[in-house]
Amino acid sequence: MERTSAGRGARYWPSVGRLDYWAPFADFTDFRAFFVADLGDVVKKHLRFLKALPHVKPFYAVKCNSSRGVVRTLAALGAGFDCASKTEIALVQSIGVPPDKIIYTNPCKQIAQIKYAASHGVQLMAFDNEVELGKVARSHPHARMVLCIATDNPRSSARLSVKFGATLKSCRHLLETAKEMNVEIVGISFHVGSGCLDLQAFPRSIADARLVFEMGAELGYKMHLLDIGGGFPGTENSKVRFEEIAATINSALDLYFPEGCGVEIIAKLGRYYVASAFTLAVNVIDKQEVPLDPPGSDGRLSRWNDTSCGAEPLWQQHGGRDSSVKPGPHHPLFSSSLWGPSCDGQDRIADGLELPELQVGDWLTFENMGAYTIAASSSFNGYQQPQINYVMSRFVCLFVFSCLQGSSPAASGEAATTRRR
Ligand SMILES: Cc1ncc(COP(=O)(O)O)c(C=O)c1O
Repeated sequence: MERTSAGRGARYWPSVGRLDYWAPFADFTDFRAFFVADLGDVVKKHLRFLKALPHVKPFYAVKCNSSRGVVRTLAALGAGFDCASKTEIALVQSIGVPPDKIIYTNPCKQIAQIKYAASHGVQLMAFDNEVELGKVARSHPHARMVLCIATDNPRSSARLSVKFGATLKSCRHLLETAKEMNVEIVGISFHVGSGCLDLQAFPRSIADARLVFEMGAELGYKMHLLDIGGGFPGTENSKVRFEEIAATINSALDLYFPEGCGVEIIAKLGRYYVASAFTLAVNVIDKQEVPLDPPGSDGRLSRWNDTSCGAEPLWQQHGGRDSSVKPGPHHPLFSSSLWGPSCDGQDRIADGLELPELQVGDWLTFENMGAYTIAASSSFNGYQQPQINYVMSRFVCLFVFSCLQGSSPAASGEAATTRRR
């Protein structure tokens, strides 16, 4: 991902292409924006994960993109699920995911939702404070809690520890309090922040987790679960490669949680699984030429036809700028800004883009649009979410079916993790 430095409206921005070079669509100006979701890409990511981190069991963070095609594909592959709410638990259970493959990771839950988890058999849950322990003690006697610790993550695009995670200092007190309340603690979790660019963030947090395991052992706990969270890149243009991060994690695990130590390791990945699988196509509904400073220079402003891909701050956090416009040859470029269709004056998607002159009815495509886009969309002004069109090659389809029938052990995270027990 790249960051543009285009003045006040600096944005992260995905690849832009002119869909009007995809001839068949060029004249269909009444089409709404739509996604193409390549589920084969999700499958490839899963296999890549199992290869790079053979001792870590992957869970999918539903919050990142809860579209059914993704959730069903990952369920077929044997992934577990990280749910943040009752709605997400209901979604994954509606497609047959058993409760023991679900972790309810929101560290601050409404009591009604804790009760929902209890009544639906979901036991594994995260917490990071004493009040949460009290709620769980009263509402979910069979809960198996994971203590979420804070991380130092200044180089992440979404710094989750600003809101969540217990400090190392407070961990002993929390572990003692859990004992007094008879709440079972089974492990430690952390999240280095989504879009993490710091290679040392995982090793640092794994070392911190080891300290808390030891603290727990002194208090008589036998914890057996380490959750290393998400934070992995979802696209190839990330400044840090997934395999590099995986290598640092493997070394840290060998050091702090070596094979045979009796600790099961899980990760909860969102962006990694879905970012590159989704491409968004939108069409231009209006344009205006606006004078730019200095006078005499040319400006173009385009509006596209659907706002459904999320509130502006989320674009800023989670999108990926890559200004690789792919116009046909001999098209001059103009400094342009793109706006959503809503009546909100803040609905600016990006500016400072060098684009060919666009016309009403032109289509634009945006790659790497799977993470925190649909999930963060809004129906403001009555706009609807773009339709998702799933694609999967016949080969990948057969592979997924073989996983469903249990004939492909390669696709299951189980094989990898049982070795550590
Ligand atoms: C608790 C938790 N787990 C996992 C994730 C997924 O993170 P990522 O998309 O970086 O993989 C998030 C993202 O916010 C999260 O809050």
